[in-house]
Amino acid sequence: MTGLSDTLGLVSLDETDLPAMHRIERAGHLYPWSERVFMDCIRSGYYLDGAMQDDRLLGFAVVMPILNEWHILNLCVDPAVHRRGVGRYLMNYVLDQAVKSDIASLWLEVRIGNAAARQLYETLGFEQVGLRKGYYPAKAGREDALVLMRPVAS
Ligand SMILES: CC(C)(COP(=O)(O)OP(=O)(O)OC[C@H]1O[C@@H](n2cnc3c(N)ncnc32)[C@H](O)[C@@H]1OP(=O)(O)O)[C@@H](O)C(=O)NCCC(=O)NCCS
Repeated sequence: MTGLSDTLGLVSLDETDLPAMHRIERAGHLYPWSERVFMDCIRSGYYLDGAMQDDRLLGFAVVMPILNEWHILNLCVDPAVHRRGVGRYLMNYVLDQAVKSDIASLWLEVRIGNAAARQLYETLGFEQVGLRKGYYPAKAGREDALVLMRPVAS
């Protein structure tokens, strides 16, 4: 499989992209957000960034700005194109925008058992700064969340 990042474009997503976003969300997460949650994010003015190939949405990131911190609330890539650089492309875009916007730090939570995402964030310089016990629903009870943070160099 080859990387896709050379063929991707970045778009800001809005209500018209909800069906495509939600299709990826349902395919990518065991406990997907409802469309209502995406709507709330759009109405709250959060940043919804999409990675497009031609007219097809391949993944997205949802970022909540809080003063000079950005919280990455969601990152999801179509499982049909996993491990082809789409997640890294989106994260690099968010990082790049954070630098341009003079943001101090990026924050996110990740399931302790999510090896793929943890590996991605580690390669991008995120470090664990907290642990939320039983934060996520899981097949067998609850699963801990790691709180990760990355300072943004100005
Ligand atoms: C996590 C996720 C966004 C990664 O997206 P992706 O497009 O498949 O990832 P990329 O191809 O950009 O990979 C970037 C790096 O992440 C790591 N990675 C990605 N998938 C991995 C896997 N299955 N196992 C181990 N490391 C993995 C690697 O370091 C990889 O770099 P490399 O391919 O050069 O080794 C994707 O797996 C996904 O959408 N998962 C479901 C939703 C989710 O868990 N979101 C994160 C919530 S915090």
